[in-house]
Amino acid sequence: MPKNLISIRDFSKDEMLHVLDIASEFEADREQNFLAGKVIACLFFEPSTRTRLSFEAAVNRLGARVIGFPDNRNTSQTKGETLEDTIKIVSNYVDMIVMRHPQAGAADVAASVASVPVINAGDGANQHPTQTLLDLYSIQKTQGRLDDLVIDMVGDLKYGRTVHSLTEALSLFDTKFVYTAPEELRMPQKYLDLLESRHIPYVQTDDIEYALNDCDILYMTRVQQERFSDMDEYNKVKDVYRLSASMLGGVKKNMRILHPLPRVNEIATDVDSTPYAYYFQQAGNGMYVRMAIISYLLGYR
Ligand code: CP
Repeated sequence: MPKNLISIRDFSKDEMLHVLDIASEFEADREQNFLAGKVIACLFFEPSTRTRLSFEAAVNRLGARVIGFPDNRNTSQTKGETLEDTIKIVSNYVDMIVMRHPQAGAADVAASVASVPVINAGDGANQHPTQTLLDLYSIQKTQGRLDDLVIDMVGDLKYGRTVHSLTEALSLFDTKFVYTAPEELRMPQKYLDLLESRHIPYVQTDDIEYALNDCDILYMTRVQQERFSDMDEYNKVKDVYRLSASMLGGVKKNMRILHPLPRVNEIATDVDSTPYAYYFQQAGNGMYVRMAIISYLLGYR
C-alpha cells in the first residue's frame, strides 16, 4: 500500500516534525534535483492559487515533472466518468497524485483506488493537511517552538478546512486554543470532543478583542462563500470580522498573524505593513513544506 497524506492524522507527531526539518533543509537550498525522471499529477477539481502553484513549483524544484489540470472542465468527468475511474487511469501514468476536490471525503476515495501515493490538497470543508504542515512550519519559524502557545482562530471555523486540520495537529502539542466565531460558524463539536479527550484547553467567543492581546498566533480565516447553500446566510456573516492595524496596539511583540489566504475583507491591507503580518511569508513557506512532503512520501528522506 502506498503511503498517503489524506488527513493530518495520517502523520504521527514525529513524522510532522521530520517533515518540518526537511522543509528547513530545502529552504536553505531549494535547488534539489533528486526526483529527476519522476512524474507527478496535480489534479485540481476546485480553484486554487497557492496550493497548486506551490506544489507545481515544488515538483519542478525537486527535478520531477508535473502533469494535470487546474479545473476539470476539459476532462472526461464532463462525459460522466467517475472519480474512481479517473484516478485509476492517472495512476498508470505517474508516481504520485496531488488532488483537490470540492467534496469532503473525495481524497479518501481517490486513495482507495490509486496505486501511487495520494496527497490531499483540500477536500471540501474536511481537511487540508499540507496547509497544516506549512502552518506548523510557519508557527515554529516565528515562535521558535510548537509548545506553550496560545492560538486564536478567527472567522469561519465551521467550513474552514484549514482550522480543522490545524486543530488536530496542534492538539498533539501543549496548545491553548481560542475559537473566535459567530454562533453560525463555530468549530464543529467533533474537534472540541477531540480536544477534551486530549485535555487540551479551549474557549469559544464571538469577540475578536477577547484574546487579541494574549495570543501568540492570530489565525484569521475567510468566510467560505462556496460552502454555503443559502446566500442570505452567507451575507449575514461574511463581514463579521475585519482586522485593522489600529486594533493591534496592545498585542504581544512576537505575535504573528497567519491566514491560509485568499483573504477577502477580514484583514485590512493596512495590517500588511505591520510587523505582525506573516501571511505572505506563510504562503512562501508552502513550497518548501510541499517539497518535503513529496520527498518523504516517495521515500527519499
Ligand atoms: N491556502 C490555500 O489553500 O490557498 P489556495 O486555495 O489558493 O490554494
